[in-house]
Amino acid sequence: MTSGLVQNMQGYTEEQHTTWRLLYERQRANLDDKASPLYLHCLDAMVSSLTREQIPSVQRMEDQLGKHTQWTLKVVPGLIPAEEFFELLARRCFCTSTWVRNRSQFDYIEEPDMFHDTFGHIPPLLDPEYAEFMHEFGTMGWQLAKAGNTAALLGLQRLYWYFVEFGFLADTEGQPKLIGAGIMSSFGETNHAWSLRDELSPFKLSDVMNTPYRTDTIQTQYFLLSSIEAMRRELGAWFETMAA
Ligand SMILES: [Fe+2]
Repeated sequence: MTSGLVQNMQGYTEEQHTTWRLLYERQRANLDDKASPLYLHCLDAMVSSLTREQIPSVQRMEDQLGKHTQWTLKVVPGLIPAEEFFELLARRCFCTSTWVRNRSQFDYIEEPDMFHDTFGHIPPLLDPEYAEFMHEFGTMGWQLAKAGNTAALLGLQRLYWYFVEFGFLADTEGQPKLIGAGIMSSFGETNHAWSLRDELSPFKLSDVMNTPYRTDTIQTQYFLLSSIEAMRRELGAWFETMAA
């Protein structure tokens, strides 16, 4: 694990472990017929490290990711500056908080907690193609940040929002399924997004990058990505024009 903050496994209360288990069980059942097979496959493959019964160990999740896609994890207190975030992704390192919401925040939290950061974000990092996309995304963001290209960075941030946080991904039959971490980690957002699955916008990179988003209200627009591979190609071509 990257040096710095460490997770204090002894510091959690029984109530916090129970909150985690209830969040996990409710959401796993809710996602069963709604989530992308890519995500569900990875979530279930990680059940020995991203545990259902108790708050998971960051070290154990990292050990499992490391064996498959060489990603590492870094414990952070909360949101970090964009440039640092891109640099970490470029180095195949994802950030997670280790605090867990309390019971009064069961359905809504303003700031991402460990349930969002791990249950939402970590499973697809076990998938080779998704992991590669995140690495490329971070590399591009880091280079654009160093070059001071704020317009291009805004485009990348929108891509992150509309795919990594709130995206739909088509399954092998072309049916829309949920993938974004902001959806996966929220019972209410899952049901809201799912109710709009017949009204999705096609995921065209230029459209996504030109669509502003709001963080303070429930989402009204979702994009359906047909394949991560196709998006990686489109993103690579876009980056070449930015870097030229
Ligand atoms: Fe997130």
